Amino acid sequence: MEAIQVENVVKSYKNGVEALKGISLTVKKGEIFSLLGQNGAGKSTLINILTTYLKPTSGTIKILGNDIYTETDKARRSIACVAQKISIDTYLSLKENMIFQSRLYKMPKAEAEERMKTLISCFSLEKYLDYPVLSYSGGVKRRLDIALNLMSKPQILFLDEPTVGMDIQSRIAMWKMMKKIRDEFGTTIFLTTHYLEEADELSDTMCIMRGGKEVVQGTPARLRELIKQDTLCIRFANKNESKSCCMELSNVRKDLKIIISNEKILVYSKQSREEFKTINKWLFEKKIEFEGIEIVKPALEDVFLRLTEVNGLEEIS
Ligand SMILES: Nc1ncnc2c1ncn2[C@@H]1O[C@H](COP(=O)(O)OP(=O)(O)OP(=O)(O)O)[C@@H](O)[C@H]1O
Ligand SMILES: [Mg+2]
Repeated sequence: MEAIQVENVVKSYKNGVEALKGISLTVKKGEIFSLLGQNGAGKSTLINILTTYLKPTSGTIKILGNDIYTETDKARRSIACVAQKISIDTYLSLKENMIFQSRLYKMPKAEAEERMKTLISCFSLEKYLDYPVLSYSGGVKRRLDIALNLMSKPQILFLDEPTVGMDIQSRIAMWKMMKKIRDEFGTTIFLTTHYLEEADELSDTMCIMRGGKEVVQGTPARLRELIKQDTLCIRFANKNESKSCCMELSNVRKDLKIIISNEKILVYSKQSREEFKTINKWLFEKKIEFEGIEIVKPALEDVFLRLTEVNGLEEIS
């Protein structure tokens, strides 16, 4: 049985915006699944539907085999959600928050104590125990919020942009925590992010979405494989030169997808070897000065840009 199964989900908001346009995806039990997409792609809309805050216009969703509409209670009991805005009471200490949470879930006292101890030691939170949550940094607050949400022993944990706005140390601490949640508690993690390196570092499976629909789903390695050998990289002395060449080439080769990345331009083609010769010849004929031209193995970032179809002349830094 899959952890989450989403089939053909459509969501139209009252103002007429169709945020989800028939998205389908599958999340396996015990994996870290990242949903990646640009602003407005529909990530939060989907997470809000999966956690039953919002109702979709159509489509079916199963959480651990239970339909979230006909078996809502069962589905709800197995999940926890950490939204972007923290839910932990910042005037209480972590311990007080955890005790409150255990009462909310009607956990027996001994079991709650046990769970609290496990979570605190697993995530090394001893030093954050007694003071009000208010007194810690944003990154620590977020980790405490996640630990709190694990009190109810959820089988699936939803995290909407867990590391947005964090410095690199806090992000690394957060990544470590997420891997521990998967490895030591066997919890399935569903997270959304804009950060490619985060999805690459963390995910067992990632799904790239665009305009309310999935574009591709697979392991980070498989996604790279998809466009292997397809990218031609031309390096220039500076950004102005890459920009001007990109414009010129785009004018004569409307069939190619061309992207500027600082002083480089990336050209995508199914026949990169053939294009290598043709474009090389064109550069010489046009007397365009460049530093180098090569066929490169695409970085995950290139896969992302390509699949989310950034306009050819849009700049990426
Ligand atoms: N409550 C709402 N009412 C109307 N439209 C909405 C509402 N919430 C989101 N939208 C629209 O739905 C689309 C998808 O938004 P959503 O917040 O799901 O995207 P997102 O991928 O989470 O973006 P971000 O990366 O900025 O968080 C956007 O066009 C957004 O403006
Ligand atoms: Mg969002």
